[in-house]
Amino acid sequence: MSDSYLQLVNSVPAGRVAKALGLPLPVPLRRYQSGAPLIPGPVLVLGNGAGADTVAEVLLGWNQDVRRHAQPKERIGAVIAVLDSVTHPDALSAVMLELGQSIRQLARGARVVSVSRTVAGTVDPAEAAARRAVDGAVRSIARELRGGATANGIVLGDGVGIDTTSAVGALRFLLSGRSAFVNGQFISVTSDRGELPAVVAKPLAGKIAVVTGAARGIGAEIASVLRRDGAQIVVVDVPAAGEQLMKVANQTGATALQLDITRPEAAQRIIDHVRDRHGQLDILVHNAGITRDKLLANMDEAKWNQVIAVNLAAQLAINAELLESTVFSDIGKIVCLASTSGIAGNRGQSNYAASKAGVIGMVECTARVLDGGNRTINAVAPGFIETEMTARIPFGTREVARRLSSLQQGGLPVDVAETIAFLATDAAGGINGQVLRVCGQSLVGA
Ligand code: NAI
Repeated sequence: MSDSYLQLVNSVPAGRVAKALGLPLPVPLRRYQSGAPLIPGPVLVLGNGAGADTVAEVLLGWNQDVRRHAQPKERIGAVIAVLDSVTHPDALSAVMLELGQSIRQLARGARVVSVSRTVAGTVDPAEAAARRAVDGAVRSIARELRGGATANGIVLGDGVGIDTTSAVGALRFLLSGRSAFVNGQFISVTSDRGELPAVVAKPLAGKIAVVTGAARGIGAEIASVLRRDGAQIVVVDVPAAGEQLMKVANQTGATALQLDITRPEAAQRIIDHVRDRHGQLDILVHNAGITRDKLLANMDEAKWNQVIAVNLAAQLAINAELLESTVFSDIGKIVCLASTSGIAGNRGQSNYAASKAGVIGMVECTARVLDGGNRTINAVAPGFIETEMTARIPFGTREVARRLSSLQQGGLPVDVAETIAFLATDAAGGINGQVLRVCGQSLVGA
């Protein structure tokens, strides 16, 4: 499904008319392209503490052009506000105001990234206030940016250094085109685990990944992005989607497993397939999902039960067996598809929102069980994504849903896939139990 309004307003005459009428002006987003620069211009690192020096060193190590103060009239590719050592709200103003001064100099598709610390790590109310204040500021900046620029933050856990693998991995992800539709969000780095990839361009080289619901839509794109990043894939979908599944398998060099994930033998079938064909499993992406929308007053048992069975109960059952299995790697990663509906609720989707909120509960609890080991589980919560599912939404509702985000457009399946691919890397090994929204900072769930 393409967004014809976005194409129209990016043509010269229509764009002028839209601007004059005060209509939304979405722009094509800066997405990952092999060989393209990581950032579209110099990076401004703000903050006076040791953390800012460390971030500047990391960027220099990536051959980036680093500035500690904005140069007049220079276009800036990214601003990083390093606020990991603030102990009082008064300490925020210098960095925030300098950041404000640089906003008009941001290039198209620029990135603003804050680095701060978790509120949970302090018992000092003023320090906690300062740390939490960063969230409010960054979420607001994300709403003020234009030209496809985004603002997000990295929140360091208690005792987690700014130069730990996952903090550095999260910084690279947020600066890159891979995070194009992630906006107004925070990535919490919960431990100093994780490893940087040997080859930056192929962060999943040597990994085996299972993707459920991969015959079309977001699942097919996840398979393609994981493949691009070096993983070998197993694509799973219902037998009725067998032909489409084979197409995806052929395109991604994957092996295919025709399977209804709600079957009692589903976990064992996945384990057996992976053991026989690939030896081990490193990444499991629980993407398969369905909607059966009805107001609760009109909901029948079948519609409620089917949605819970596919979107939630199947994930629970497969995880339970997989986590006991020796096939699942000691540093295995599970990434689950939630939804902004599961965070904010949505009219006509009580069954779907229950299933997706349930996924978040499952992820948070399972992460606590995994804590202390090297396996992780996280969720990605997409907002409005251009797929066959959302193409079926009536035009008016669809148009409103698209424009009600800070980026004024729907995301593409590749945006969800890029975020999942990041959480599946060993560089994200210190990120556990998190829910990352890929929604362009949608007002839904705000
Ligand atoms: P889709 O309907 O295009 O694809 C879902 C795939 O899952 C289909 O290929 C389907 O055959 C498969 N599937 C369904 N039941 C299955 C079962 N029992 N066993 C195995 N495979 C099964 O959906 P889309 O849009 O690609 O969504 C993918 C995931 O992202 C879902 O979990 C969905 O809830 C979630 N999501 C999508 C959003 C969007 O805007 N498209 C927004 C938020 C979340």
